[in-house]
Formats: sequence, C-alpha cells, structure tokens
Amino acid sequence: MNCRRRGLLLVSFLLSLMMTKIYFKSHQAQELQLSDWFKPRRRPDVITITNWLAPIIWEKTFHRQALEKYYRKRNITVGLAVFAAGRLVDEHLELFLRSAKKYFMPGHRVVFYIMVDTYPQLPYIQSSPLRSFQVLVMGRERWWIDLDLMRMKTLAEHIVDHIQNEVDFLFSMTANLVFQNEFGVETLGASVAQLHARWYFQNPKYFPYERRPKSAAYIPFGKGDYYYGGSTIGGTPRRILDFIQNYLKGILHDMRSGLNSSYEKYLNKYFFLNKPTKLLSPEYNWNPMFISPKQVRYMKVALYPPETS
Ligand SMILES: *[C@@H]1O[C@H](CO)[C@@H](O)[C@H](O)[C@H]1NC(C)=O
Ligand SMILES: *[C@@H]1O[C@H](CO)[C@@H](O)[C@H](O)[C@H]1NC(C)=O
Repeated sequence: MNCRRRGLLLVSFLLSLMMTKIYFKSHQAQELQLSDWFKPRRRPDVITITNWLAPIIWEKTFHRQALEKYYRKRNITVGLAVFAAGRLVDEHLELFLRSAKKYFMPGHRVVFYIMVDTYPQLPYIQSSPLRSFQVLVMGRERWWIDLDLMRMKTLAEHIVDHIQNEVDFLFSMTANLVFQNEFGVETLGASVAQLHARWYFQNPKYFPYERRPKSAAYIPFGKGDYYYGGSTIGGTPRRILDFIQNYLKGILHDMRSGLNSSYEKYLNKYFFLNKPTKLLSPEYNWNPMFISPKQVRYMKVALYPPETS
C-alpha cells in the first residue's frame, strides 16, 4: 500500500475520532490541594517543581496517607495499557504483569489492557476483585510499519470505544519494564510525563529533539523543558486521547512533506506545547545498566532487560 493511501486512511480515522461524541466520567469530588500532599523541601538535592509549577515526583516528596485517603474516597479505577508485540510477549509480558499486579496502584481497582498483535500464548495471571485483565488484539494491518503508530491508533480506538467509561486515569507503558517498588496514587494526574533516565542528567543542548524545522515535532535549539521518555505516559483518558490525536496529526503533516519523525519526538513536542501537570522522576523508569547518581535512591520501575546501547 502506498503512502498516499496510508495517509488517507489516517485522515479518515482522525475524523471519525473527532466526530465521536465522547463522554467522560465526571468528577464531582473536591480537588486535592498540592500543599496537602506534596513536600518538595524534603528533596533539596533535585528540582521538584517545574517553572510552570507542576510537581516532579521524587521519593520522599509526597505524603502517601493524604493521597490514599483522597483517592479511596473517590473510589477510583486506574487503567494500565501495556503494549507487547512479537518477541516482547514471550520475553517480558509475564514479568511485567506479575510485577504490575503487585506494585501498580496497590489497594485500588486496576484494569489491565493487554494490547497484542496476535493471540499469543498469554501468561496465566489470575484476576481478583481489584485486578482485571482485558486482551485487546490489534488489527493485522501489516502495512503499519511503525509499531508506535499502531499501538497509539489502537489505544485511541479503545479509549473512545470503552476505556473512557471504565477508568478515571490511564497509563500506557511498554512491556519491557519491571516494577520493583510501589507505583502508587502519587503518580496520578491529568497529564503525566516521564523524565527520561538517560537524558535527565545531560545538558539540554544534546537532547534528541526533532531539529528539522519542517517537521511537526520540531523544537529549536535553546527551547524545550525536559526530555521525556516514550515508554510511560499517563493522565485522564481525555488527555491521552488528545495527545494521540496530536501525534497522528503530526505524522500526517510530516508525511505530506516527505518527513518522518519518531514517536518520542512527537511526544516531546506535545509536552512542550501542552505542559504536563505532573512529572515522574527517573526513579519511575530507571535503567539498571546506568550507574545510579546519588539522586536516584529508590528504583520503582526498571527497564528490562537493560538497554545495551
Ligand atoms: C466503587 O466503584 C465500583 C466500580 O465502579 C462499584 O462497583 C462500587 O460499588 C463502588 N463502591 C462505592 C462504595 O461506591
Ligand atoms: C524514516 O523513514 C525511513 C525510510 O522509510 C526509515 O528507515 C526510518 O526508520 C524512519 N525514521 C523514523 C524516525 O521513523
């Protein structure tokens, strides 16, 4: 199938998304104030607030009991969409799911959305009153050369179709991660970005942003806030859908001018224009192959197997 045809299919998909009437669960509960739970002074060694006043969650900066009390009252359900294609299913999915079942939002209701490209031999993991599992099979449209595009398109379709009615917050992660410690309600927010472990401690001028001015993902030198990782994003279903729509529009724009960029670069551009309301420190996505600087005291999620590059 040629590019033009692919582009047309994307456009029609986008239009159908935008014309869909979207209903989101409404939240009447009183909002929690940042000062009720966020204790940034406990971590003077790191930046804990962005210049647009979003909290950056590091170990010790949050008061867990205050958060637990609030979210328990709201009786929340959190979704975790995990994408596993090909060899990721065999090698990582079971470890991901077993560790997530234990450490992801303990004590709260979680729906796992397992997105796979074929019906594989799925690991058997028992559901429980607070842990349920749904398998979402992605279309076998082999012309989707780009797996990120495929997983985001699939996720958007399922958000519109049912996820928006099932969860209050949603995370999307790749399967090559293992939870090592609690990933709890401190991570919840309207739009949650993950600081990239490799780039966090680097000079921003080396960030691998898209630098071609014609691309929709373009961020000029000297601009940009942080480098965000593509393996974890979170937020309300509405905000995740908004990101995906922007991502697809970006791809379409670039396709028309013969360009392509990567998922992570579009994500960085999106968060540059639409600032995330909460940032997760690199503790939430650490690569054990890196020598841990003293700021990283407590690894909550590890990349597995460690990247060798
Ligand atoms: C909490 O939400 C679940 C599922 O949405 C529902 O079945 C349950 O009755 C709710 N519990 C309370 C106390 O509202
Ligand atoms: C851009 O397209 C080329 C050729 O189709 C491909 O090899 C390359 O991986 C693409 N780059 C990105 C970032 O998608």
